[in-house]
Amino acid sequence: MKHKKYKSLHVLQGIFDIFRFKRLKNSLLYLPIILIPLLFASVIFLTVYVYAKVNASNQNADKKYLYLKKLAAHKNTHKFLNIYWKTPVDEGKPPYKWPEIQKSLSPSSCMACHYDQYEEWKNSRMAHSMDAGVVAQLLLKKMTSKHWKPWVMSCLSCHSPLAEYYIKHNKYKGLDKKEKYILKNGTKEKKAMVIALNALKIPMNKGALSVSCATCHVRYYRRFGPDIKKYMKQGKVAHGGFVPSKAFTKSYFCIKCHQLPSDNRRLKGKLFENTYYEWKNSIYAKKGISCETCHTPNGSMAFKSIYNKNFVLKAVTIRLKKVNINSANVQTILSLTNSGVGHDFPTYTTPKVILNVGQENIKGKVIKKSVKSYIIGWSVSLNLKKQYFDTRLKPFQTAKLIYDRPLVEGAQYLKAWIYVEPESHYIRFFKAFLKIKRLPKIIKILLSEALKQDLDSKYLLWEKRIKIN
Ligand code: HEC
Ligand code: HEC
Ligand code: HEC
Ligand code: HEC
Ligand code: HEC
Repeated sequence: MKHKKYKSLHVLQGIFDIFRFKRLKNSLLYLPIILIPLLFASVIFLTVYVYAKVNASNQNADKKYLYLKKLAAHKNTHKFLNIYWKTPVDEGKPPYKWPEIQKSLSPSSCMACHYDQYEEWKNSRMAHSMDAGVVAQLLLKKMTSKHWKPWVMSCLSCHSPLAEYYIKHNKYKGLDKKEKYILKNGTKEKKAMVIALNALKIPMNKGALSVSCATCHVRYYRRFGPDIKKYMKQGKVAHGGFVPSKAFTKSYFCIKCHQLPSDNRRLKGKLFENTYYEWKNSIYAKKGISCETCHTPNGSMAFKSIYNKNFVLKAVTIRLKKVNINSANVQTILSLTNSGVGHDFPTYTTPKVILNVGQENIKGKVIKKSVKSYIIGWSVSLNLKKQYFDTRLKPFQTAKLIYDRPLVEGAQYLKAWIYVEPESHYIRFFKAFLKIKRLPKIIKILLSEALKQDLDSKYLLWEKRIKIN
């Protein structure tokens, strides 16, 4: 029997014996005594190591955040915005103490507390910037080119800057529950969308798709927004408060995606996207009326545009001159003035606005041969190499349709009407694509969906009838 006193000695002996491979059978009992401290040591070492790493990267993100915060308060908003709009947008890591809903970057999580903004945004074009037409083009590139990434990322830098982050940093983790559910139960269009995004390594949720709330408002998980007094008073109620900046009410905020750099491709000397400079050279810039004054009034996130009938009606002046019947000819002038659009009307090659005047028979049918039309827009060939016409209106310019046609037998009314085709260019573009033989099936499904949506966007802006007989 050994005395208690010698127990520790005994243990040491045991350890010693292990190393000498003596009494191996007995000393196995002592194995845990070595392993446990060893395990402890390595756990402590690892924790310290990981902590230091995380801390360093957090500190790095913190440093970048603090720098951005400093710039946000600066008078020179351009300096702040040039860094703020570097893409892929650096989302950083969520502060781990935050509740899940405040960590999430998805627009539906913002909805919980910013309901109005969410509802408005959801119906805006911003929420549709990654619809079928765009995704089809991206997927086609992936299918046909080994070097798809830079091309796709260049599109994403405007259409979905957060998604670019997921591709660049290999953060894509595969299909999530919701996507798997769609693959099983969705329509063929929705399934095609999931398959395409999966191939492109873009997560559907996480707020990465479209020009989301986080795209414009979140950097390093901190919220940035305009310095609205009512919010400033509430203080840090949610997501650690927010960083206010005057930059959010300046036109320069929008430049990243609505103005191509001056060294970009041109047609007849004109950039395909020149909205910022159209505005800058207009009276609106001089008067201090910014993009936000018109497009985000009172903090609205609806980004109304050519899609919204009443928005357009308020910004144009339409006149129909008194109708004359002169030596059996019907004469009038239909005119449209850009009286409230802060840039060219329309600004891109995409929309067309079509003025029409014609005669209508007693049954309310327009007599085809009597119709005269005039198109406002910038019409270019699909390869963007040829210009057919450019009849866009600068602020306060007027388009005129001069009507002087023989009075047709049976005509009862003169009818003047104006249509808007918000996606005219893309309708032609998608139709041409769909004619290609052996187009992969998934691309076909997506493009047909895009074409359908674009055809549906056409609407009647205005119409008037005058009795002539
Ligand atoms: C991160 C890029 C990005 C920023 C920043 C951005 N936009 Fe956009 N915006 C887009 C994209 C992409 C679309 C087109 C979506 C589509 O139709 O597929 C769009 C669409 C629009 C439309 C609708 C266009 C149409 O064809 O009907 C308006 C209006 C608009 N943006 C205004 C603004 C204003 C004002 C700002 C600044 C406050 C702004 N945008 C900032 C990317 C951006
Ligand atoms: C500088 C920002 C910017 C870049 C880069 C950009 N786009 Fe766009 N794109 C826009 C804006 C703004 C609109 C909406 C205005 C319009 O309708 O023309 C748009 C519209 C579109 C549409 C029509 C949307 C619809 O619903 O029919 C398609 C398709 C599209 N872009 C594809 C692409 C592809 C593909 C690329 C990459 C090669 C790309 N875009 C690069 C800003 C951009
Ligand atoms: C749990 C509720 C909650 C959620 C979720 C939430 N917010 Fe907020 N947010 C607030 C409150 C409350 C304020 C008012 C300022 C404050 O008290 O911090 C605010 C303020 C803001 C502001 C500043 C407004 C200004 O005047 O500049 C922005 C921008 C913002 N939130 C964006 C977002 C975005 C984007 C998301 C989703 C990614 C989001 N918030 C999610 C509650 C929330
Ligand atoms: C294209 C960029 C863009 C997108 C996308 C966007 N915002 Fe904004 N947001 C802005 C700008 C710019 C302002 C400043 C508007 C102003 O004051 O005229 C603003 C203002 C706000 C405000 C302050 C509103 C107030 O009362 O004045 C909140 C809150 C907000 N946004 C939340 C959101 C949420 C939530 C989403 C998504 C559902 C969203 N934003 C999408 C650019 C954006
Ligand atoms: C004085 C008000 C006003 C200002 C300022 C203004 N817009 Fe617009 N914008 C409109 C109206 C009205 C429309 C709808 C008619 C149209 O499409 O031109 C529109 C349409 C658009 C469209 C739809 C596409 C198209 O082809 O027309 C985009 C994109 C857009 N604006 C972006 C901007 C940007 C970016 C700025 C700032 C550089 C800006 N707007 C400044 C009033 C304004």
